[in-house]
Amino acid sequence: MRVLSGIQSSGKLHLGNYLGAMRQYLQMQLEHECFFFIANYHAFTTIQDAALLAALTRDVALDYLAIGLDPEKACLFRQTDVPEVCELTWILSCVTGKGLLERATSYKDKVAKGIASSMGLFSYPILMAADILIYRSDLVPVGKDQVQHIEMAQDMAGYLNQVVGRAVLKRPEAKLNEAMVVPGVDGQKMSKSYGNTIDLFDTPKKTRKRIMSIKTDSTPVEDPKNLDTCNVFALYKLLAEADEVAAMQRRYQAGGMGYGDAKKALADVVDRVLGPARERRAELEKDPDYVEDVLRTNGAKARAVAAAVMTDVREACGLLVSKDTHR
Ligand code: TRP
Repeated sequence: MRVLSGIQSSGKLHLGNYLGAMRQYLQMQLEHECFFFIANYHAFTTIQDAALLAALTRDVALDYLAIGLDPEKACLFRQTDVPEVCELTWILSCVTGKGLLERATSYKDKVAKGIASSMGLFSYPILMAADILIYRSDLVPVGKDQVQHIEMAQDMAGYLNQVVGRAVLKRPEAKLNEAMVVPGVDGQKMSKSYGNTIDLFDTPKKTRKRIMSIKTDSTPVEDPKNLDTCNVFALYKLLAEADEVAAMQRRYQAGGMGYGDAKKALADVVDRVLGPARERRAELEKDPDYVEDVLRTNGAKARAVAAAVMTDVREACGLLVSKDTHR
């Protein structure tokens, strides 16, 4: 089973990304053939500052390696190291109706938020379909907000197959990432666009400060507290061990514990969970050549797969190129 997913390098990764997606990828790399790539072409739809985009791209690689993605097991690479995806994007653009893209809710949401509606933003789902189809991926783990994009990729595979009269592209399936609600510091879903994130790799001190700022209700210290509505407990439950969660639950129900204590306990668990990853990240940061080497080696592996599929696609379309242009 070939698993593929992309991570946009448009901001710092946070606990919501970790709990909702990254943590599951660590398990998947043991069970499947995995391709995980840093979607920097996609990020360029919104990040158009060269130094910033380069830094964010590098940070995503560091973050993934730090949390334990093993580049020997999973192919972690940069989208831009496989420029053939842009070529497939063009080919798919020619067989895809504009109406399909006009129905994309993610595009409409972005424009509603004030992001300039460039052609790139509009074609974003075609590039994403190309990402998926160029590796003949079977399974694409994504969040709920990306499911429509996967359905569009399925449609586009069908359109091209129909045009060329054979199954040159494979229909992928979405695999929904764990649908847990990870609250941000304000209690809304943790998201970069709400500005309520707890970043994965802030300094331990800043992370603790951020945790201390999580919004809680005004139940007095002596009173029992509501577990179901508490943002601190919700995060604690996702990160602590089962016995710790049970103990914390009793403290909430008994009363006599202030939210400050619960936050401290949460910060301690975050330190424990992220401790090894923080150390590893600091080591990796000292060795940029290693990180670059991982991306380059894996990029070449991914590109070889993509190039073979593209040869097939070009042939099927009658898009001829000189033999020495494309191996
Ligand atoms: N659009 C995805 C997101 O914002 C990122 C992405 C780009 C992606 N290409 C992909 C995800 C291909 C899965 C497969 O989360």
